[in-house]
Amino acid sequence: MNSCAASLQSAAELLRTGHLVAFPTETVYGLGADASNPTAVARIFAAKQRPTFDPLIVHVADLSQVECVVSKFPETARLLASEFWPGPLTLVLPKRDLIPDLVTAGLPGVGIRIPRHPVAIELLKAAGCPVAAPSANPFGGISPTTAQHVADGLGRNVDYIVDGGPCAVGLESTVLSLMTERPILLRHGGCPVEDIQRIIGTVEIARSDASLDNAAQLAPGMLSRHYAPGTRLILVDHDRLAEPIAGLRCGLLTAGKQPFSGRFARIESLCDDENLQTCAANFFAAMRSLDASDLDVIIAHEFPALGLGVALNDRLRRAAH
Ligand code: TXA
Ligand code: MG
Repeated sequence: MNSCAASLQSAAELLRTGHLVAFPTETVYGLGADASNPTAVARIFAAKQRPTFDPLIVHVADLSQVECVVSKFPETARLLASEFWPGPLTLVLPKRDLIPDLVTAGLPGVGIRIPRHPVAIELLKAAGCPVAAPSANPFGGISPTTAQHVADGLGRNVDYIVDGGPCAVGLESTVLSLMTERPILLRHGGCPVEDIQRIIGTVEIARSDASLDNAAQLAPGMLSRHYAPGTRLILVDHDRLAEPIAGLRCGLLTAGKQPFSGRFARIESLCDDENLQTCAANFFAAMRSLDASDLDVIIAHEFPALGLGVALNDRLRRAAH
């Protein structure tokens, strides 16, 4: 694990030669490979044990690289890009032939974003190729927000891990499809939907209970069980008190103070004052730590449903499924 300039050059060289490099972004760590190299991309699916119906997001350093990946960049995309890129917003746009079908799971659209993390940008520039990267965790598990999480989850299945410290946003990017006349939000994430709507007006929100068939067509990251710990997770409404269950070793995932805190075996409080940005930044690490605490059940408190709270609740619901 390394992030100095020389190691970034080595990491870029590994990407160019078809290897797998995990790297930090502002959202979560990604497991990267040259997006134009189908053999390298196939290694991502193998390393994560990810089904090939689940498409990968392509990461680029700047707008000139975007043009090599997508064949159309409509006005809506331009508006969103100028507001939110670099940043946690993925746009699905018609793909160019350079991008193999494996990247998009055979779909005509490719998810693309310019990440905001300086190390990611440096690496992408040095590599000079578009980089396909899902979150760097085994499929369906908790996304990694530190280099250590990547090493714990993928170990020797990754050729190199670039360490850029903990991720500042802590939740994956928001995914918005611009493949249809009306934009469709496929996944809530680090760019709140209210912010997007302020720029381009109302967007349709894909149903989160989409069936497997539907999900495969839209955004397979919408599979109902995803982002999940091994321990059973029970979700409590935002306006209810979280209480432990008698006879069980219970952990609590919450924000702010809870009256029954003393009765839980483990507590992860994401933030003292319910600041949603801090909650998001700490969320996956807290979930991992509870999952490793030999608990019978994790009880988690919903967040207020605004801003990043919407994406946090989405991840909690999938984890609880
Ligand atoms: O923040 C993020 O998005 C992180 C970092 C590394 O960029 N990446 C990430 O990738 O979370 P992943 O593979 O774990 O989740 C990406 C999801 C896919 O599961 C899929 O639902 C959606 O984005 N997606 C990607 N490409 C798509 C496409 N062409 N059409 C529809 N949905 C797509
Ligand atoms: Mg993922």
